Amino acid sequence: MSNPSRRRILTTGALGAAGMVATAIASQSQTTAQTPPTSEPAIANPNGKFQNKVVLITGATSGIGEATARAFAQEGAKVFFCGRRQNLGQTIEREIKNAGGKATYMQADVRQAEQVKAFVDACVAQYGRLDIAFNNAGIDYPPHAIADTPITEFDDLMNTNARGVFLGMKYEIPYMIAAGGGAIINMASIGGYRAFPNIVGYGASKAAVIHMTKAAAQEYGALRVNAILPGAINTAMLDRVKRDWQVTEEQLVQPYPSKRVGQPQEVAAMVLWLASDDASYVSGGQFSVDGGGLG
Ligand SMILES: NC(=O)c1ccc[n+]([C@@H]2O[C@H](COP(=O)([O-])OP(=O)(O)OC[C@H]3O[C@@H](n4cnc5c(N)ncnc54)[C@H](OP(=O)(O)O)[C@@H]3O)[C@@H](O)[C@H]2O)c1
Repeated sequence: MSNPSRRRILTTGALGAAGMVATAIASQSQTTAQTPPTSEPAIANPNGKFQNKVVLITGATSGIGEATARAFAQEGAKVFFCGRRQNLGQTIEREIKNAGGKATYMQADVRQAEQVKAFVDACVAQYGRLDIAFNNAGIDYPPHAIADTPITEFDDLMNTNARGVFLGMKYEIPYMIAAGGGAIINMASIGGYRAFPNIVGYGASKAAVIHMTKAAAQEYGALRVNAILPGAINTAMLDRVKRDWQVTEEQLVQPYPSKRVGQPQEVAAMVLWLASDDASYVSGGQFSVDGGGLG
């Protein structure tokens, strides 16, 4: 394959790897970039919008999950979160508490059913209930065409991104049903809505999340279950994509009308809205957070 062709495919696939478009066609829309919001660390408000609510988050040791844990805590929620990196989890727990919020980190791997069950059970044991669950934990791998995709990588993507969400819901739902209601937000991606080259495991796992979200909304009318589909969000995952695909941020944002990447706080804002009473008649939906409606 010639270098220019290879480069074009790599570039377009890189966009998909982070949940972005695979066709990096020059956009006809305005080229001026939106200005991202600035975020300032805030002291938790015990009388905030989520006071007395218990929120469980998988994968909140960095990125979108971390930003969402901090946002819920700032609004008065009790946050129970996991991730495998204990040092990061403990640091985030301490920082939230130092800001006056309530949070507990527990090490858990969403690929292990017994660990997910223990994590959900421990949340209810500690805080007495479960009102909101954000099944967010996820991974990416470097790009491969289907024939070149290592089976181990495909399995890990499905086990983490899809089966991890299934396990989360499996153990969260009985507590919510017993309590008479609850809200679940599942992390998908625009890569689960559209097919992009060279990310078959990632895309398939996120498509499964969208399907499971709709299935859960159908099965449990007492709950509200929704999926979010971010585009390119400024996290460690996006840094890995830029490295693995050798693309610059300028190249990454080209297909997006916003002409910029999103910030984790902008995804957190969508999660908080879906979890709130403002979204009281919203269930079974899929919500893009991608600066332009690509998902
Ligand atoms: N950034 C984007 O552009 C983008 C776009 C669309 C969708 N998403 C999705 O957003 C979610 C969060 O990603 P991010 O961008 O915030 O990247 P990130 O900073 O890498 O965060 C991933 C989080 O998932 C956790 N995680 C991964 N595997 C896990 C496992 N087996 N068990 C428990 N936790 C696990 C990680 O914690 P540990 O490593 O400590 O376990 C980390 O907290 C993912 O599902 C991703 O697919 C991201």
